[in-house]
Amino acid sequence: MMERTELYLQAPSPSFVVDEALLIQNLELLRQVQQKTGCHILLAQKAFSMYSLYPLIGESLCGATASGLYEAKLAHEEMGKENHVFSPAYLDAEFEEITRICDHIVFNSFAQWSKFREQALAAGCECGIRINPECSTQDHAIYDPCSPGSRLGVTAANFQPQLLEGISGLHFHTLCEQDADALEATLDAVEEKFGQYLSQLKWLNFGGGHHITRPGYDVEKLVSLINRTQERYGVQVYLEPGEAVALNAGFLVCTVLEIVQNGMISNAILDTSAACHMPDVLEMPYRPPLLGAGLPEEKPYVYRLGGPTCLAGDIIGDYSFDAPLSPGDRLIFGDMAHYSMVKTNTFNGMALPSLTIVNPAGQLHVQKTFGYQDFKNRLS
Ligand SMILES: Cc1ncc(COP(=O)(O)O)c(C=O)c1O
Repeated sequence: MMERTELYLQAPSPSFVVDEALLIQNLELLRQVQQKTGCHILLAQKAFSMYSLYPLIGESLCGATASGLYEAKLAHEEMGKENHVFSPAYLDAEFEEITRICDHIVFNSFAQWSKFREQALAAGCECGIRINPECSTQDHAIYDPCSPGSRLGVTAANFQPQLLEGISGLHFHTLCEQDADALEATLDAVEEKFGQYLSQLKWLNFGGGHHITRPGYDVEKLVSLINRTQERYGVQVYLEPGEAVALNAGFLVCTVLEIVQNGMISNAILDTSAACHMPDVLEMPYRPPLLGAGLPEEKPYVYRLGGPTCLAGDIIGDYSFDAPLSPGDRLIFGDMAHYSMVKTNTFNGMALPSLTIVNPAGQLHVQKTFGYQDFKNRLS
């Protein structure tokens, strides 16, 4: 692993570095789930849209799912396999193009379904309704589509079975970084509330949030839940994980710019920013792993790592090191492939990190670098 780390440090700073060898490990596990069940697994592009890797991902997965036209176009152009889309509300101006490039369209309400039904069916698309089983299996309200009053998915009370003609499947997405026991509880709720409709349908999409590639995830339970559902109702099961595809497959390489001492703590200012390059650190919030560093009490030299923006809270976290940090030192944050490069922004005119890939043979390739024009082009 040490050699690999040396390799990542050859990337420009700051840079997201995705290691294909680590991505392939995840894809292999997902491929096994497909083999054991016959389910179809799709890449949820909202988590990971590094499209130069779509051909590799497409070798293992059945296709991709999109949150709207742009992601759907990306999968159509760069992966060319099954192309699913779900949006809480489609735009009139975009829907025709969606029907041309997507094979599966999921609607968030019966009103949306009624509005676009004829157009979608005439184009030969398979259509689905997103359901809300109202079964919360986690406490994080911002990531819980089952929280009271949620706008996502049709609840049992609002379900309109008389409008099911032309519908091929149902879709639910309720999990976030969860194990198969949460899926089991969710499936129980889905079956209790919507089970009566499943046998007449072709597919059931279990959404994302399955942390399948996390060490310790109960893959066998997932396999048995998929098999049980497919046998019981004769449906094709889909999974659309995002995070699990790219989990622990990428890094963010950056540089210490300055050290600022302020009484209680030494601040290290980096050329990367939580607010601009890893907003989930502030939103979730979470503490990204930093290679070679520890929790504040673990090692003798403690630093608060922060970005160079104006935001006082642009802080990645407190980390401890074996030796003092100095300007010019390179640092490598782990688990930076998913929900990172898709969420970057240029607040404060921050430069965007480059995008780098390391192939299994250990060759590093800088795919893309960004500059002033990328900042300017988004404004006018
Ligand atoms: C509808 C839908 N499908 C799939 C996903 C992917 O979830 P994850 O990246 O947690 O697997 C999401 C994430 O928000 C989603 O909203």
